[in-house]
Amino acid sequence: MSKVTVVGSGFVGATVAQYVAEKDLADVVLIDILEGIPQGKALDLLEAAPVNMHGRSIVGTNSYADTKGSDIVVITAGIARKPGMSRDDLLKTNAGIVQSVAKETFKHSPDAIFIVVTNPLDVMAYLTWQTTKLPTNRVIGMAGVLDSARFAAFIGMELNVSVEDIRAMVLGGHGDLMVPLPRFSTVNGIPITELMSKERVEALCQRTRDGGAEIVGLLKSGSAYYAPGASVAQMVESILRNKNRLLPCAVQADGKYGIKDIYIGLPTVLGRQGVERVIELKLNSDEEAALKKSADAIKDHINLMNQLLVAV
Ligand code: NAI
Ligand code: 2OP
Repeated sequence: MSKVTVVGSGFVGATVAQYVAEKDLADVVLIDILEGIPQGKALDLLEAAPVNMHGRSIVGTNSYADTKGSDIVVITAGIARKPGMSRDDLLKTNAGIVQSVAKETFKHSPDAIFIVVTNPLDVMAYLTWQTTKLPTNRVIGMAGVLDSARFAAFIGMELNVSVEDIRAMVLGGHGDLMVPLPRFSTVNGIPITELMSKERVEALCQRTRDGGAEIVGLLKSGSAYYAPGASVAQMVESILRNKNRLLPCAVQADGKYGIKDIYIGLPTVLGRQGVERVIELKLNSDEEAALKKSADAIKDHINLMNQLLVAV
């Protein structure tokens, strides 16, 4: 029986728990610092099990002892972005939270694969890797699946075609400098650049870059959780079922694309070892420049985080 621990039982954490259980991927432990919230949400999800017809155990807890022996740890603990707040404003608070959560979960599940969700994503994935000192294949950030899903949804709306036929690819950091790749985004193999004008392609790319903020603006308090939860569940499925799906994930670049020493969204094959390999695409000069710009911004944020953590 596989076991997935989800740290942070807020909107994203609870949605991850729901999808993981309902897709029958694993037993789930939901943990939070708030008392009652993980227990209440776990019980509510368990009460949905007879309707949704799965037999998965879902435990809500405040004790890390219950997370022991997890195959996957998903970190969603932290504060969410409020309207007018940039992802990077979250840096200091969430760094402290992620560091302590990574240490505690690693103590109880030293063999787990970590999927990081907390923002700012690329920096928090890097921090989790630094904190746990795990091999890079076992610490992965979730953002590219979400950003690509948003791009795919917008392409579907624009062309009035089924999302079943759309494959979209967004690389780079999870922020304003993310890099949607129209050349590698297709409707049943046809690049979208063949199906709409340059201006419409750029408009959809911009809507994708602003995708998180668009939801925040509508919700007023809190940020997106259905698409983020579904995106994490897709990564969990590829790992636990050793599906080797090619998904954009935040990974240690390790010299690929000329990028080193940071976490950034790249095309990744996800299987039972976590990151099985990172695919190196031949980018054109504009795409390469955009990815470099995104990587430079992440590097600056990692430096800033290191200064903030030293100052604490
Ligand atoms: P939320 O506020 O609903 O939930 C966060 C939960 O973390 C709260 O229940 C809080 O009590 C808990 N928490 C705080 N400190 C903790 C600690 N030390 N230990 C355990 N639990 C702790 O927020 P939501 O909407 O679930 O978002 C969670 C995070 O995910 C945010 O940082 C958000 O920006 C990020 N996010 C990232 C996405 C991505 O694509 N990477 C997509 C959506 C959200
Ligand atoms: C999003 O993109 C808040 O990062 C989160 O929805």
